[in-house]
Amino acid sequence: MRRFLEMKRAGRRIVVLTAFDAPFARIAHAGGADMLLVGDSLAQVGLGYDTTLPVTLDEMVHHAAAVRRGAPEAFVVLDLPFMSYQASVEDALRAGGRALKEAGAQAVKLEGGSERRAADVRALVEAGIPVMGHVGLTPQSVHALGGYRVQGRGDADARRLRDEAERLQDAGCFSLVLELVPAPLAADISEALDIPTIGIGAGPGCDGQVLVTHDLLGLNPGFEPRFLKRYASLADEARAAVEAFAADVREGRYPDAEHSFDAE
Ligand code: KIV
Repeated sequence: MRRFLEMKRAGRRIVVLTAFDAPFARIAHAGGADMLLVGDSLAQVGLGYDTTLPVTLDEMVHHAAAVRRGAPEAFVVLDLPFMSYQASVEDALRAGGRALKEAGAQAVKLEGGSERRAADVRALVEAGIPVMGHVGLTPQSVHALGGYRVQGRGDADARRLRDEAERLQDAGCFSLVLELVPAPLAADISEALDIPTIGIGAGPGCDGQVLVTHDLLGLNPGFEPRFLKRYASLADEARAAVEAFAADVREGRYPDAEHSFDAE
């Protein structure tokens, strides 16, 4: 945790990527990510749901354990899924415990900056479980927020977000995700906090940046929010590879002698 604080103090930006399985964990870690987030975006990106709400703690633990095996040296954060912590501090503690004991994660992330959420953070930190906060657009509250829209526009909402960020820092979070927040507000919050902020759709003033790896690699072609920059078009490449394989099989080019075994 000290490492991320030191990075902020030294002005070194923190690179965070999602990972849901061993191969992607290996790629993201080898590519230089400072932190791997087993995000509950797994629900949409990996499991085909419309929102993050359906993914369970069992599923998150299962995937985080695969991430840990794929990148044993990585710093892994498990995103506590919807209703694994909202009902009580005890639930938050039990869920956080499973993240560290069963999945081998080093930290958990939870959404929201209310007093109630700060109590969860204090209890987790007290139990030795590092916590990353998450304010702004919090997808687990998508229905309450009325959709996936920018948060913190207007003085009152901006003040609310600043207060939430400070509350989470005071409760003991070691870092804070700012999602879909106007760039000037995200920069102000980042400046005001000692802990690093990790932006997504929050402009260049954050202390680090997170993206969903499948999005940056172009594996989720229908998803085109303004904040997303694609660095590859792997869905197109993968589809072309599958088409080439299918054509080879249908036309008898594969398997050929080179890919077959002799009798001895
Ligand atoms: O679930 C997730 O991938 C996240 C990031 C977008 C921050 O929460």
